Amino acid sequence: MNGERKAKPMGPIPAGYAADASAMLLIGGERADALVERAGDTPLFVYDTALIGARIAHLRAALPAEIDIHYAIKANSHPALLRYMAGQVGGFDIASGGELALAMAAGMAADAISFAGPGKRDDELTAAIRAGVTLNLESEGEAARALNIAEKLGVRPRLAVRVNPDFDLKGSGMRMGGGAKAFGVDADRVPALIRRILDAGADWQGLHIFAGSQALDAASIAETQAATLALADDISAHVGAVPPLVNIGGGLGVPYFPGDVPVDVAHVGQELGRSLSQSALAQNGTTRFAMELGRYLVAEAGVYLTRIVDIKQSHGETFAMVDGGLHHQLAASGNFGTVVRRNYPLAIANHFGAPASHIVHIAGCLCTPLDKLGDAVLLPEASVGDLVAIFLAGAYGASASPAAFLGHPAARELVLGA
Ligand SMILES: Cc1ncc(COP(=O)(O)O)c(C=O)c1O
Repeated sequence: MNGERKAKPMGPIPAGYAADASAMLLIGGERADALVERAGDTPLFVYDTALIGARIAHLRAALPAEIDIHYAIKANSHPALLRYMAGQVGGFDIASGGELALAMAAGMAADAISFAGPGKRDDELTAAIRAGVTLNLESEGEAARALNIAEKLGVRPRLAVRVNPDFDLKGSGMRMGGGAKAFGVDADRVPALIRRILDAGADWQGLHIFAGSQALDAASIAETQAATLALADDISAHVGAVPPLVNIGGGLGVPYFPGDVPVDVAHVGQELGRSLSQSALAQNGTTRFAMELGRYLVAEAGVYLTRIVDIKQSHGETFAMVDGGLHHQLAASGNFGTVVRRNYPLAIANHFGAPASHIVHIAGCLCTPLDKLGDAVLLPEASVGDLVAIFLAGAYGASASPAAFLGHPAARELVLGA
């Protein structure tokens, strides 16, 4: 054992992963090495739709029946995964013209797609209005441009307003509301904008209130949802019109790091039921409600497999160099959405569950010190040719990493069960 350094902890390996009798990691019941052979090579993302389906069913059972589930496709927009998701959720939330094309190609109905995101270009607004997708307007200026474009096209646009609430989602990894923000229209200016939309004869679709992302504390999530529903009531009362849809945002996180615990969705569901019972809009019989979720639905269903191509010693420490890196899995390197670098859960896929005995750095193949996928992690002894599995790779892996950096090949992707 190379005990020169103390091991640094890793996050928890998600439920649903096991090994066969030869200690080979199974993903969706298939051996990791067989999946690599099927895909042709490493690095490889594998997404197991059975885990996604189970996750959605678990969430639906916990949430009040009034709450529909939408998928924010920014988390993972692989075409086959999107086709699967189109049959599982009530809508897609998109953030660009590129995602619009992907969402439509996956077979999601245009009237179940909403497009949020600051800085929408005119060509994106045009494509969305033509397609009949709902625009979640981020500003008064964007509203004016959308109305102009729709008039020129001779189309009645579907418009909702994204609200910048005066609160944020406490404990969230990414705060999207409260104070001066690039996202949404400040809450006190929303009623006037909605009146302008209605006066222009547009098809007002409702409100989008997204206060934050990656929260694990059920009480904070519940508190934000209660405030969101109260804000929707308040805006509706000021406008004197009932929104067809209130998108209450999402923010349910997943445990990535040591000490993280899963969200207690039963508690979130109970509290949301209580908040809905106090919401005037929830009593009117016409307003629909939705949550908008990305990582909670897909993160744990993905594994990134990368092969050890070299093992070296430096100043008494062991480095296993892999053929993947932050160009595919930026988040696992600690350079996407975290302030302090911590270790994602990872394993040697062909010694899964074997006793951990060696402290090793898992270094990516990019020539930057940022490209570290595991920092002083305690693993079974590894050799050149072994497969490293990095978990939590179903969200913000391939869709959020600088794939073109340094000219390495793109990762392969396999979607199981779709
Ligand atoms: C508007 C909006 N919707 C959805 C999401 C997805 O968040 P998550 O993947 O954490 O659920 C984000 C993330 O930043 C967002 O900004």
